[in-house]
Amino acid sequence: MTILITGARGTVGAGLLHRLHDLGHDVRAASRAPQWLDTPPGVAVTTLDLADPATFAPALAGVTGVFLYAEPAGIHDLLTAASAAGVERIVLLSSDSTTEPNAESAPLARHHLTVERAVQASPIPATVLRPGAFATNALSWSGAIRTGQPVEQAYPDARTSPIHPDDIVDVATLALTTDTLLGQAITLSGPEPLSFRDQLAILSDLTARPIELHELTRTQAHQRMTAHMPTPIVESLLDYWAAAQARPVSAEHAADRITGRPARSFRTWATEHLDAFCGQPVSG
Ligand SMILES: NC(=O)c1ccc[n+]([C@@H]2O[C@H](COP(=O)([O-])OP(=O)(O)OC[C@H]3O[C@@H](n4cnc5c(N)ncnc54)[C@H](OP(=O)(O)O)[C@@H]3O)[C@@H](O)[C@H]2O)c1
Repeated sequence: MTILITGARGTVGAGLLHRLHDLGHDVRAASRAPQWLDTPPGVAVTTLDLADPATFAPALAGVTGVFLYAEPAGIHDLLTAASAAGVERIVLLSSDSTTEPNAESAPLARHHLTVERAVQASPIPATVLRPGAFATNALSWSGAIRTGQPVEQAYPDARTSPIHPDDIVDVATLALTTDTLLGQAITLSGPEPLSFRDQLAILSDLTARPIELHELTRTQAHQRMTAHMPTPIVESLLDYWAAAQARPVSAEHAADRITGRPARSFRTWATEHLDAFCGQPVSG
């Protein structure tokens, strides 16, 4: 029983790799750049580019379970290769954007929806995880907070229920190691709705620093974000935040309804990652 973890350098994949290894499962870590993987001693690593079918068969040899990051480019070839390799279950890391009414037309949602549909149409039993915004997204503010600069953010009153990646790891572990979640598509969130402004207030409290918020217009945010992200994804994100300012948010999808243990709060995540926000200010 070998479980292949794609995205093993990513936030959720790395946590899942360590969790399953600690529980005694045989895991194989996959990355496009396996030389940079940080794996426990004895864990096998493999090269896998989800957009390059030439890498699929070697990565999947002897694998029975796959934790899959959503990459539409090679998904049909990947599922064919997984079937041929004898894979018995797939757990897909998707996004709650696929449940939005405009999912078909929004590039970010469509990216995930394409993979969800392919996985659900495959004969391999699957579980689809649909988390909302990760608590880790707050790391994008860490440089400004560390150096005492204003945090720049569009739609500061957009509310989500940020999820701690370890809660996704808990659910993925259940999905990969028991039959209870097979065939399900599960929306996941953290335990409490928080706006960006609320999250910054928590970070200010924990770091004991005032944090100034500089609200960006949509145009300003678009300019800054397209410097390091594809334009359609930026526009989807801005639309998501704009909608999140207007709609009510609940914690009805909190991970604890699946795991039975209290969902971890944003404050908990921020406390665990305080170093990222508290380094010495950079001079000059
Ligand atoms: N951040 C959020 O708020 C949020 C919310 C809902 C859903 N999600 C979804 O969760 C996933 C992870 O998000 P994240 O922000 O936490 O990402 P992350 O930690 O930055 O990790 C990204 C991972 O994706 C892997 N990857 C990307 N393209 C790949 C490819 N072609 N082949 C193989 N691996 C590939 C990377 O692997 P290598 O570079 O090692 O190859 C890396 O491990 C994303 O799919 C995202 O859409 C995120």
